[in-house]
Formats: sequence, structure tokens, C-alpha cells
Amino acid sequence: MEENRKAEKKRSSFSGRLGYVLAVAGSAVGLGNIWRFPYLAAKYGGGIFLLVYLVLVVTFGYALIVSETALGRMTRRSPIGAFAKFGKGLPFRFGGWINAAVPLLIVPYYCVIGGWVCKYLFEYLRGGTMELAQDAYFSTFLGSAGGVEGWFLLFAALTIGIILLGVEKGVERMSKIMMPLLVVLAVFVAIYSVTRPGALEGVKYLLIPNFSNFSLMTVVAAMGQMFYSLSIAMGVLYTYGSYLPKDVDIEKSTGQVELFDTAIAVLAGLMVIPAVFAFSGGDAQALQAGPSLMFITLPKVFASMGFGRFAGVAFFLLVLFAALTSSISLAETGVSTFQDQLGWSRKKCTALVAAILLGLGTLCALGYNALDFLQVLGMDMLDFFDFLTNSVMMPIGALATCFLITRAVGLNAIAQEMELSSAFRRKRMYGVFMKYFAPICLLIILVSSLLNVFGVISM
Ligand code: PFF
Repeated sequence: MEENRKAEKKRSSFSGRLGYVLAVAGSAVGLGNIWRFPYLAAKYGGGIFLLVYLVLVVTFGYALIVSETALGRMTRRSPIGAFAKFGKGLPFRFGGWINAAVPLLIVPYYCVIGGWVCKYLFEYLRGGTMELAQDAYFSTFLGSAGGVEGWFLLFAALTIGIILLGVEKGVERMSKIMMPLLVVLAVFVAIYSVTRPGALEGVKYLLIPNFSNFSLMTVVAAMGQMFYSLSIAMGVLYTYGSYLPKDVDIEKSTGQVELFDTAIAVLAGLMVIPAVFAFSGGDAQALQAGPSLMFITLPKVFASMGFGRFAGVAFFLLVLFAALTSSISLAETGVSTFQDQLGWSRKKCTALVAAILLGLGTLCALGYNALDFLQVLGMDMLDFFDFLTNSVMMPIGALATCFLITRAVGLNAIAQEMELSSAFRRKRMYGVFMKYFAPICLLIILVSSLLNVFGVISM
């Protein structure tokens, strides 16, 4: 008992709702919103993708954020501990581990993209506004092994260095200034982008659902994006929940985080997609560009502005901050998992995370050039890790959370935890969702995305 009280005391905690909402929003808003959302929306149907995404955020996203946060707060543990508290069998151990493993597989390729952002920031600082806007610039850059690896190493060193120096708090405090600036700049760039000749078609493409663009892949991609963007099924929300005081209203804070995260994603969509239409006539090929979309389209927007160099520097600097706060929280989750499970020192655990990060990240960085013969299931390495984590592991992690709640913890216990701080207004919807809807949908999504990559069905 005494031990427990001590552990409880030692655990850091948020000062209140605002501190918690800002921390979760800091982890949620990152490359997922600015880089990943626009290219997926472009590729998987525009308005119909957005509609499916919004429905998923307020149903699935809501139920899973509430679940993970309440479980964290109830057990005061991160995912492995939280699962182990309710059962000893294999499914429980597996459930905890899969939630904890995802950040370790995301952070390597996250740092590769972070490296691309550093490279673009550097080039804008140097005054390369016109070169960056050329069609072949990005693919030439990706083709140079030394370049991509070097910038990846820089971003990875920033992430690990900040963790080693213990200055995350300073970076997070900075990001409280940078994040609002990012919003202001994004609004400005979005307005500019939307008002280019020909851009209106892009606005329509993003905002008006066209059901003929719908496919099962729209749902799979939107679901993966929802997990990724809201930091669900990655252990992060368990951990943050475990720092949460008992009187903070989980429902309300969840709503605020969802709103903020989604608003930034839509804003990023409005910066990028109308620009594709304005500068490339919205041809199908440009919309399919995938991970490179932001890096090809935005430089064209900046190059057409009078003060494009300044806009480019400001934009990539702000994105760099958003990306850093997210990569720090991913790496930090890995470090604390190893600390809890292996009982090693913080330094040793950071070194282990750094080794995984460098090994897998290098595979991804070189997957576009020196190692481009390395393909898994027809995907290059970065795409493969993205697919593995978002379309396979996160649905399994989320299924494990549903299983834990319905089989071991009980919906009532979650409701009691929620009611410590407020009326649980969406309790009925939550129950139905966790019991039936979520497991069935997660299974369908998981099976169909696997069948799709193995070529059994075509979505
Ligand atoms: N949600 C972040 C993004 O959209 O970029 C990615 C992420 C960051 C996921 C941190 C998980 C996490 F712990």
C-alpha cells in the first residue's frame, strides 16, 4: 500500500485539463496532419475520404481515446502494465506488447520524413526557392543515398539528443508558441493556395464527397490515418492517461483534441490539394503522388509567391517543430516501455531505442536509392513500415483494447472511471461501439487490407 502510494506520488502528473490537452495535441499534431493526411485524401477519393475520416474520428477515435485514457488513469500504468494488471494469459501480454511496439516501428520512418523537412528548410534558407519547385527535384533528392541518410541522421540525432539532454519540456514549451504560429501561417497559405486560378476544382475535390470515388481502400486508409493522427493504439494515450488527475473531464478533453487535430489536417489538405489542381491541372497522376505530394506541391505554391523564400523557411521551420514534438513523444514512449520492462537505466534504454531507430530508419532512407531492390509485398521500405504499423498492427492493438475492456475490465468499470470527473454523456454509444461495432469493423479492415496486399482481392 505504502509502496503504491509512493509510486503514485513519484509519477509525474498534468496540472489540469489545459496541460493535458496541450500535451496530447502536441503529440497528435505532427507530420500525420501536414504531410500524411493531404496525400491520402488526394489518393483515396478526396471528399469521400474526408467524410469517412470524420465519421471515424467521432465514433472509433472517440471510443478508443476514451478507452485508452481511462485505462491509463485507472491503472496508473503504461500499456504493458495496464494489460498485465487485468490478466496473465497470452492475449493480455500480446495486447500490451503490440500497443507498445508500434511507436518503435513508426519512429524510424518518422525521422526519415523529418529529415526531408530539414533538407527543405535548409534549401529555403539557402535561397533555393525556384529549384525546389521543379518537378524532378524531390525524386532526385530521394535518389541520393548520402543525402537522404544524412538528413535522416540529423533529425534522428535531434530527437535522441533532446531525450538524452532531458530538454523535452523546453521543446514542448517552444512548441506552444510555434503551434499557433503554424496555424496562422497555414491559414494564410491555404487562402493563397485556394485562390490560385484553377484551384477551386481542388477545393471541391477535397470538400464535396463523390461516391463514385469510394472503395474499401478509402475506409482502410482513413482508418489507418485516424489511428496515426490521433496517436491511438500506440501506447501513448495509456501513458498520458496515467499522468492524468482524477478530476479532469476525459470526454471534453478528447473532443477538444479531436477538433484541433482534425482542423489542422483539413487546413493542410486545403494548402496542398487545391495547389495540385492549380499547378498540375489535377491530373490523376499528380493526385496519386503519395508520400512525396507535400514536397512537390508546396514548393510550387511558395515559388509563385512574392516572398516565397520567407514563406518556405517559416513553413518548414514550423513543421519541423510539430514533427519534433511528435518524434520525441514516440521515442520517449519506447524508452519508458524498455525502462519499465527491462529495468535498465534510462541511458541504456535510450541507446537501445537509438539503435532500433538508426537500423530501421537507415533501411527506410536507403529504400529509395541504394537499397531500392529491397521490396516487401511490392512496397519500398518506408511504405512497408507505414503499412505494417497503420494497417496491420494498429487495428490489432485496437482490437486488443476492445478485448481487454469487454472481457476483463468491464464497460461499467470504464464508466465509473469516466464518471469520476463528469457525466459520461455518450455512455450508451460507447458500450455498443466497443462491444459490437468496433471489433467487427476492425476485423473486416484488418482482413481485407491483408488480402489486398497478398493480392487475393483488389481494393
Ligand atoms: N500523431 C502524430 C502525427 O500525426 O504526426 C504521430 C505520432 C506522434 C503518433 C506521437 C504517436 C505519437 F506518440
